[in-house]
Amino acid sequence: MAEHDMIEPVIGVIGGSGLYNIDGLEDREWRKVETPWGDPSDELLFGRLDGVRCVFLPRHGRGHAIPPSDLNYRANIDALKRSGVTDIVAVSAVGSLRDDLPPGSFVLVDQFIDRSFARQKSFFTTGCVAHVPMADPTCPRIGDVIAREAGRLDFAMRKGGTYLVMEGPQFSTRAESELYRQWGCSVIGMTNMPEAKLAREAEMDYASIAMVTDFDCWHEDHDSVTVDAVIKVMKRNGERARALLTAVIPALGQARGACHAGCDRALEHALITPADK
Ligand code: ADE
Repeated sequence: MAEHDMIEPVIGVIGGSGLYNIDGLEDREWRKVETPWGDPSDELLFGRLDGVRCVFLPRHGRGHAIPPSDLNYRANIDALKRSGVTDIVAVSAVGSLRDDLPPGSFVLVDQFIDRSFARQKSFFTTGCVAHVPMADPTCPRIGDVIAREAGRLDFAMRKGGTYLVMEGPQFSTRAESELYRQWGCSVIGMTNMPEAKLAREAEMDYASIAMVTDFDCWHEDHDSVTVDAVIKVMKRNGERARALLTAVIPALGQARGACHAGCDRALEHALITPADK
């Protein structure tokens, strides 16, 4: 590949519950980024890690004051795009739907079932129609790098799993939790959709690290999820996520060619509205 075809990656991190910062960031600066979709959750933190440019966005704002249904997902993704971000690593707290994923487990999500319903899910509204492919909603290249770095750090991480996105903000009923288990889901959370869909429309590579805080409400040997239980596990999960990110960001920052899975060219065959409309 010719040198001029190489991409200088800019790594975007969306930090969920428990992750409000990135360790070791140099030239740190919080900056407001404006978008035509309104305001993102907060200012974005710009900096470099081992020379690699990165941009951090606290998903719920620094004071964790925005609930999942009120997040401006379009503004968040657009603000990252306008900041030059090529690769997004989303980090989120989730409940577990499997016995073998106890609190403290990390899962590299590769599928979603989107049961959210009260959110703006597309940049393409009346006037311009596009349908991007979502069969493989996460970027395998970023996933491979995360898995490799996790292995290097001797850090247990389940590679692959389906994340059920619920609307919230209330947790699930037991019947819902059992249903999602029957569907083969691994974890449940409230935020990764429409984030992943919008990242695809914006032609950014997206990967999701899910940090398990609880067994939701299906497990006979464990109490049903409460915020107190989530917060107890969240702090330790956040520390481990920050350690992982300090390895993952420099590794993702190596210059490379176009994404082999095509995440960065998702609109090439997606537009239906003729260009002259
Ligand atoms: N986030 C953390 N735990 C959760 C759960 N059990 N359900 C939905 N979102 C969560």
